Amino acid sequence: MELSQEFDAFVEACIPLAANADHAGVQRLLTDLISDHADFAANVPQFGEVKPSPLGWTLGGEYVHHTSDELTVMVLDTLPGVLQPPHDHAMHAIIGVFQGCEEQRFFARTNTGVVPAAGRTLEAGDVVVLGEQAIHAISAPPGQPARAVHVYFGDIYAAERSLFDPDTLEPLPYTAERYDELCRPAS
Ligand SMILES: [Fe+2]
Repeated sequence: MELSQEFDAFVEACIPLAANADHAGVQRLLTDLISDHADFAANVPQFGEVKPSPLGWTLGGEYVHHTSDELTVMVLDTLPGVLQPPHDHAMHAIIGVFQGCEEQRFFARTNTGVVPAAGRTLEAGDVVVLGEQAIHAISAPPGQPARAVHVYFGDIYAAERSLFDPDTLEPLPYTAERYDELCRPAS
């Protein structure tokens, strides 16, 4: 996927900030990048048809624009109809939605386990920062597929991460297969 020069410049500017763990700096850059979200969205190509997962979930497209030990930047679509499972990232993350709605359900770690916490619906132009310990689950409301820039302060594909059973919130090692197994239909 070819992205705009503006997006390329954003990634280049994030690289030294990520090396210094400057979360606020990247948050500012991402907020600026999508401040005119309609214009930004018009310059990010739509994904082609999204193939269903092995278990038949259609989650959305994913385009990884940059990955290194210190930084991963991707454009992620979240399609309606699926409650994706709670998971952590084992690193800071910043999400900026530039089209549609990305529903965020958050979970808190307590002495006795993981419990549901607040939720938030991100709309175009909204940016949220998730700390290293954060646990969230994403979905999109009917008719409002989300498109968002997801920035991670590390190599998200190399990290040892956890998934959480949506019924019991029991932690489990993160694998793509388990992510698929723990999806649920949105009611
Ligand atoms: Fe996530």
